[in-house]
Amino acid sequence: MALALPQSTHAPGPRPVTKFRTQLNASSLAQFVDPLPLPEIAQPTSFRPSPTDPVQKLPYYRIAMREFESKIHRDMKPTRQWGYAASSPGPTFETRSSQGILVEWANELPDTHFLPIDHTIHGAEASKPEVRTVVHLHGAKAPPESDGYPDNWYPTGKAALYHYPNRQEAAMLWYHDHALGINRLNVFAGLLGAFFVRDEFEDSLHLPSGKYEIPLIVYDRIFDLESQLNYPVSADPKKPWLPEVFGDAVLVNGKLFPYLEVEPRPYRFRVLNGSNGRFLHLSLSEKGAIHQIGTDQGLLPAPLARDRISLAPGERTDVIVDFSAMVGASVVLKNDISAILQFRVAKTKALASVIAMPQTLRPVAKIPESSAVKTRMLSLVEVDDVVQRPMTMLLNNAHWSMPVTENPVLDSTEIWSLLNTTDDAHPIHLHLVRFQILDRRNFDVSVYWAKGEVKYTGPAMPPDPSEAGWKDTVRADPGMVTRIIARFEGYPGRYVWHCHILEHEDNEMMRPYDVVAAP
Ligand code: C2O
Ligand code: CU
Ligand code: CU
Repeated sequence: MALALPQSTHAPGPRPVTKFRTQLNASSLAQFVDPLPLPEIAQPTSFRPSPTDPVQKLPYYRIAMREFESKIHRDMKPTRQWGYAASSPGPTFETRSSQGILVEWANELPDTHFLPIDHTIHGAEASKPEVRTVVHLHGAKAPPESDGYPDNWYPTGKAALYHYPNRQEAAMLWYHDHALGINRLNVFAGLLGAFFVRDEFEDSLHLPSGKYEIPLIVYDRIFDLESQLNYPVSADPKKPWLPEVFGDAVLVNGKLFPYLEVEPRPYRFRVLNGSNGRFLHLSLSEKGAIHQIGTDQGLLPAPLARDRISLAPGERTDVIVDFSAMVGASVVLKNDISAILQFRVAKTKALASVIAMPQTLRPVAKIPESSAVKTRMLSLVEVDDVVQRPMTMLLNNAHWSMPVTENPVLDSTEIWSLLNTTDDAHPIHLHLVRFQILDRRNFDVSVYWAKGEVKYTGPAMPPDPSEAGWKDTVRADPGMVTRIIARFEGYPGRYVWHCHILEHEDNEMMRPYDVVAAP
């Protein structure tokens, strides 16, 4: 198969022409008229034998994906969506470390899609069923057959039984669709939800919990004047795919501009950027109240005071916000300059005893670089057409269907150097493992294309303290080499790594990788 040569991505070419149905202007709607919804907690319905040890019985959940309608905002009409257990976000899983569960994910969706499929995309050919789903638990150390491999999709009327052993530290994971070639549409339709793993170490910190711990699942959408999801398309009806999709409506837990009544005390917020392609930059109208305590894969060594939190698609943050000094105030959470959520702080101070912020959290031992048995140089590439419109994005210049090139040995440590040759930041996610960011460093992209050589043009920069914990998704900045280090623990088998901008992931910016059992 001939590969198109990457074109220079530096000349600003014409951008794709976008054809919109008339769009609802989200900013025309009244703010803070709907309470913030909290997703239901998923409940097991029985106990079933563990696939690895049939004497042991594990909680069994059955979650059906269904079409449903709900109101995104008081003044909008009901919006058709697809959701796990007919809600979006889907129900929240509450689980404990090392206590496995079984989930049967049933596809009970209609058998036609309501968003525009691009049949020219690999895996989404017109010969395939329109509606295909497979669930991935992002951040989970799951066996390969329960990881939601993109080719393991199944159509309407079918289900898959997955085993999540939860042999990992307390963290906020999230589950979402991962079907090859239409993942961006399935997630946009509403197929995502939160999944918490808890452990004793986290319990011992006595962080705010129960009604004082709240998931905030943030993502952007576009609606038409009928309040329906409006996934944008290119001007070519045969190739509707667009390289990026940004909505003007930024939803929190599935509502537009909700409000939350809080007590004047500390709260713990578990924040997920579930957007297809939008990077979030969150801040509070009151400065000095946010303390970051965790990253994608769990707690930081110590709290960090933050005025602004940036999250790429797929990333999570764990924060304590202390409303104690804001009695009676209304405080807004902003993304960039726009308010997305309002906190209404009660006028009466609770009688609760003063809650102290722990000074230290969970130690994060640095993985020594010297423990890596291999360093892989992996390029991120945008392939443009003759008029410099992005056609596809590649990892290491390879397509999804090409043979596996990344094959770490089980329990070995590797450094992956992500060479971003494009003009955009790409959030790179590895399934199965947690990793640490070593550094980011500018390099000369034109020298790289001309000679295949990495010529650094600046010093290596350590990760920001906000990213200096355990991660599973990392922002690879343009023109930089981003180095991560991971121990490939868990299970041998086939997994994937990919860009978490879902439009990129669907159009080839995803590769299989194999964890191979030691010889
Ligand atoms: Cu959240 Cu493979 O992704
Ligand atoms: Cu994942
Ligand atoms: Cu990307």
